[in-house]
Amino acid sequence: MASSTLALRGCTSTSLLGASQCSQKSTVQPFVALPTSSSRIASIEGLVSKRSASRFSMAVATERQVYSTTKSDEIFKAAKELLPGGVNSPVRAFKSVGGQPIVFDRVKGSHSWDVDGNEYVDYVGSWGPAIIGHADDEVIAALTEQLQKGTSFGAPCALENVLAQMVIDAVPSVEMVRFVNSGTEACMGMLRLARAFTDREKVLKFEGCYHGHADSFLVQAGSGVATLGLPDSPGVPKAATAATLVAQYNDLESVREIFRQHKGEIAAVVLEPVVGNSGFIIPDKEFLEGLRELTKEDGALLVFDEVMTGFRIAYGGAQEHFGITPDLTTMGKVIGGGLPVGAYGGRREIMEMVAPAGPMYQAGTLSGNPLAMISGIKTLERLQRPGSYEQLDRITGRLINGLLDAAREAGHDICGGHISGMFGFFFCKGPVNNFQDAKKSDTAKFAKFHRGMLERGHYFAPSQYEAGFTSLAHTEADVDATIAAAKDLFKSL
Ligand SMILES: Cc1ncc(COP(=O)(O)O)c(C=O)c1O
Repeated sequence: MASSTLALRGCTSTSLLGASQCSQKSTVQPFVALPTSSSRIASIEGLVSKRSASRFSMAVATERQVYSTTKSDEIFKAAKELLPGGVNSPVRAFKSVGGQPIVFDRVKGSHSWDVDGNEYVDYVGSWGPAIIGHADDEVIAALTEQLQKGTSFGAPCALENVLAQMVIDAVPSVEMVRFVNSGTEACMGMLRLARAFTDREKVLKFEGCYHGHADSFLVQAGSGVATLGLPDSPGVPKAATAATLVAQYNDLESVREIFRQHKGEIAAVVLEPVVGNSGFIIPDKEFLEGLRELTKEDGALLVFDEVMTGFRIAYGGAQEHFGITPDLTTMGKVIGGGLPVGAYGGRREIMEMVAPAGPMYQAGTLSGNPLAMISGIKTLERLQRPGSYEQLDRITGRLINGLLDAAREAGHDICGGHISGMFGFFFCKGPVNNFQDAKKSDTAKFAKFHRGMLERGHYFAPSQYEAGFTSLAHTEADVDATIAAAKDLFKSL
């Protein structure tokens, strides 16, 4: 659909009031499901009072025609001439669900608004950072204050110590930490460190796990159980991935086999301790325990890439949730509270190899800048308040169970789950234990689901192979509205 006409409650006609006058309150009710072609007249509840509704219905119905994605479409068309594919990160282009992406105007709490004034309940949360809600007032206030003192020092600042101490206190494996500017950077630094510390070159990752776009991690898993990595993108030299081994997630035997073949050669086993980049996949506890044992026996390091799960599925991340302590941990997303931050950390003896304490070189002009640090600090402070993770778990459970029930009632095969504020589902019977299972999902159905929900005012990640995120700002009214919209949509999928 090139240009959808949408009707969203809480918004008034742009021609009457201007797009910027959409309601900012999170008073989401089930949005009106609109037929996309024949009749575009929506309920006018929320636009005018019930009493005056009949008088104005024709006029409003006519005005409602302006609710569309016209501005998004125009901006995206222009962007395609300026930016490769119109975006600065590929998944934003909606390639795997089709249709045009929505161009955002602003975000607040659990909601986002596009440039046409359409309002959405947002389950992407900027891909994870917005765990306390978008543009949280306390974070914004602290950022505003910090702005007066400057945005970047390129020199030590006290805020780095504060955030470092918070991370060290929270994450069981971390005794020292290095801040960088993204999850990719964190994974690059971590890998160099693991290689430097062990004096080994090989790294073992899992099919379907994403660790940023550094050469060594851009590996296509072959069809076998365990496959030597081949570059997944032109421009990645074979040499860069020759030392990358790939195993199946949740399949300890595939890991054992690789360790048998490469005894004493593997620097690190790196994994998403809960997968978010093949869709949402939960590990077997025995799988994680087995990895811990195997790495210990072989002298390899165990690395949890908690860029997505860190401070999300528990304050201490997946390692706290599962009670398994890796040697190194990478982080990102939540620790920057919406500003660009990544980090890697671990045992002191390993971290002291990082320059200038040790010989492993890694640096960054903007690393540890005060804006990013204060944003992270304020976000973590909010998360520390009692009940935060219980609230995330409750609201996310309500959402996913409601979605699964609604889909099953309508006769769809579906499976899914959640841990705290991270969730996902697949349009297949399941269970989904790894990327091979995830690929059995009906992605065409997901694409229709995605577009249908967007039209009803609910923003999910534009790919079957991405996890969803909730925040402390999501309300029961938000998720109930989403479930009601999905119920309606599932009937026609
Ligand atoms: C588990 C994991 N590691 C690393 C990254 C890369 O982080 P960034 O996009 O900040 O470079 C991501 C991004 O989604 C991720 O999910």
